[in-house]
Amino acid sequence: MNSNDCIKNPEDVDWEKAWADEVGPIKREKKWTKDTPKIHFEKIAIKYEFHEKLIQKLILDKNDTVLDLGSGEGAVTSLIAEKVKSVTALDSSSMMLDLLQQRIDSSNIDNIDIVEMDIEDATVDNVGSYDVVVASRSFMGIHEIKDTIIHINEIANKYVFLIVFGRNNWILEKKFFKSIGKKYPDFAPYNYLFNLLVSLGIYPNIENFDLVGNKTYDDLEDAYVRMKWKMEELTEEEIEKIKPFIKENLHKNPEDGKYENPTDKADFVLMWWKK
Ligand SMILES: C[S@@+](CC[C@H](N)C(=O)[O-])C[C@H]1O[C@@H](n2cnc3c(N)ncnc32)[C@H](O)[C@@H]1O
Repeated sequence: MNSNDCIKNPEDVDWEKAWADEVGPIKREKKWTKDTPKIHFEKIAIKYEFHEKLIQKLILDKNDTVLDLGSGEGAVTSLIAEKVKSVTALDSSSMMLDLLQQRIDSSNIDNIDIVEMDIEDATVDNVGSYDVVVASRSFMGIHEIKDTIIHINEIANKYVFLIVFGRNNWILEKKFFKSIGKKYPDFAPYNYLFNLLVSLGIYPNIENFDLVGNKTYDDLEDAYVRMKWKMEELTEEEIEKIKPFIKENLHKNPEDGKYENPTDKADFVLMWWKK
């Protein structure tokens, strides 16, 4: 058999379906609710290396209007707001938007508007058009991906920036799953999204963030709580193995007393295109 017989032409693949199959059967899953452990919000609320590097990569003008899809509590939104005329922060989670409102109030920010909506529902007709559309780490659960891309491409006048999760996230979690003979339930591969964009005639620039800092944990209990939250569908017996695993795989940094593993980094991928 010719080896080429096994290779499917990317044009013959239904990338929308491939992505949706990976996202799973739930069309509008809302993970970010008051039931999400508080500790998780506290950790993601930290403005860290990623946000600083992201803001440098966005092409923004002081007269621009920006739509920030999946703004969350606004760590990226507020940095964008410092550089442009106005930002509309859109998110489906009222809890995250409450945190954003607190940020706006406490910092006296006057150029951020808030819209509570699913990203999937945003169209030119209901949100209007913007110079720049940014969606930072908010696309991984979107099932109706093709229509959503088509709509946000219509909304943007100048640029679209999508930041998605790369394949090298959750190194420790993946290692733990391997040790118990299971496969870690990762997000959909970003190359599916890339291929979908190409199938729509959109040819994005693509780059990996080179993040130097690794994840740190205040103590072993902090690491346990944060790892356990992500480990759905584990048996009680498997959960009991997390603590010894953490002990073996994290070490205390003598400089700041935090626990870490140098390989435990975040991996983000930027896809952006000019209209
Ligand atoms: C990881 S946070 C990202 C926050 C911020 N953009 C950043 O990069 O720091 C993901 C945010 O996207 C929101 N989100 C996820 N899927 C969404 C959807 N389909 N519609 C609206 N918001 C969504 C969540 O509620 C959450 O606030």
